Amino acid sequence: MSGTTPKTVTITLDGTNRKLTVPLMAGTAGADVFDIRKMYNALGVFTYDPGYGATASCESKITYIDGDVGVLQYRGYPIEQLADSSNFLEVCYLLLNGELPNAKQSAEFNKGVMHHTMLHEQIRQFYNGFRRDAHPMAVMCGVVGALSAFYHDSLDINDPESRRISAFRLIAKVPTIAAWAYKYTIGQPFMYPRNDLTYAENFLYMFNAVPTEDYKINPVLSRAMDLIMILHADHEQNASTSTVRLAGSTGANPFACIAAGIASLWGPAHGGANEAVLKMLSDIGHVDNIPEFLSDVKDKGNHTKLMGFGHRVYKNYDPRAKIIQQACHDVLKELGIKGDPLLDLAMELEKIALNDPYFVERKLYPNVDFYSGIILKAMGFPVSMFTALFAVSRTVGWISQWQELIEDPEQRIGRPRQIYTGAAERAYVAVDKRG
Ligand code: SDX
Repeated sequence: MSGTTPKTVTITLDGTNRKLTVPLMAGTAGADVFDIRKMYNALGVFTYDPGYGATASCESKITYIDGDVGVLQYRGYPIEQLADSSNFLEVCYLLLNGELPNAKQSAEFNKGVMHHTMLHEQIRQFYNGFRRDAHPMAVMCGVVGALSAFYHDSLDINDPESRRISAFRLIAKVPTIAAWAYKYTIGQPFMYPRNDLTYAENFLYMFNAVPTEDYKINPVLSRAMDLIMILHADHEQNASTSTVRLAGSTGANPFACIAAGIASLWGPAHGGANEAVLKMLSDIGHVDNIPEFLSDVKDKGNHTKLMGFGHRVYKNYDPRAKIIQQACHDVLKELGIKGDPLLDLAMELEKIALNDPYFVERKLYPNVDFYSGIILKAMGFPVSMFTALFAVSRTVGWISQWQELIEDPEQRIGRPRQIYTGAAERAYVAVDKRG
């Protein structure tokens, strides 16, 4: 932008007397916005922004991203500091309430969440309806959506207490639902949650433990799990969060909205990328095959993407990728894994891509998904569980954004328009008169 910061934006339709002047709205940080809500009435035209790359859908106080310099902040706190010093339930409190909790608030919040981790016994029956080889994300979509059939006491979205209890229930139950989805696929008994463990410890326990023997918590792995959950907790108005907001704008109950978010996250362009990265790395197989793979990527006709690279907002390194890369090394060291061929391959792929003009010109850098799959695989998670873990972590972000939407007096039902380029009006033709 030029030197002085403009205070208004004026749009005129050439050749007409129609014009619209609106104030520029400035946020705490990041791009200013201009309010186009009066545009259609004033000018008779819509804006056109497929993929919403230049559109602010809402005002939010939750997460700030500066994609040009690679900044991510939850309620103003840099992700690096939260990763270093916080824990996932504290980050949940921060995202939901806007401030870090004091010791009393933290204890009450943690108790509230950890005492909602069990599922209604009838919900166990839902799992039997799935094939054993069902993808965990299919199970997550189904079972989370079904929660609305069990909690009629907290479906009133206009009641703050209902919203609060739904938030607790969703944050508390998604790990149980995800861990049971895994146990079901391997035919092992479901492990009930344990309220004496931390959130991350409890998830690892439900995922790994069996009734026949004690389960020993590995503090390095539970710390890594907690860190991965912090890094995935929220990320501004990404596709799945926008899905949750759009569903929430109709008045749908929070369980249905979060199920919609899970479905949206599943796509390989979004949360499904961590699973796709592992498949990509195993398809490449060896560092010697990297040049051929990258030439496939550059040949658009192949529709081959360098999965785990690129981002709609980050045109610099995704700060989460850097943190996860370090955690990868810590976990592999703890597990005594001297050289992980996938990690070695990923690091060589990253090095080559970051020096390749094709990727440099397009500002394509590793995103959170590039390394997350490697650390999850090293921790013993099957590839099919990677996106389910993303959903477990992102549930607090979705519910925080949903809560902000419901409490925002300016929010209305989301209803985008279009530019119509189909057939002009024409008369019906009887079948015996058609060509
Ligand atoms: C997540 O939005 C969020 O915040 C999401 C997320 C979150 O926490 O919620 O951060 C999580 O979803 C991370 C992204 C995970 N997805 C992947 O890693 C899949 C691979 N990435 C691409 O599919 C892609 O980069 C997207 C979907 C992430 C972004 O798509 P855009 O915004 O449409 O890409 P772009 O406009 O920046 O692309 C610019 C150019 C294009 O080429 P040209 O037309 O200019 O020639 O770069 C190309 C794109 O074709 N490009 C890629 C590429 N990503 C973009 N080419 C090869 N490989 C890629 N990965």
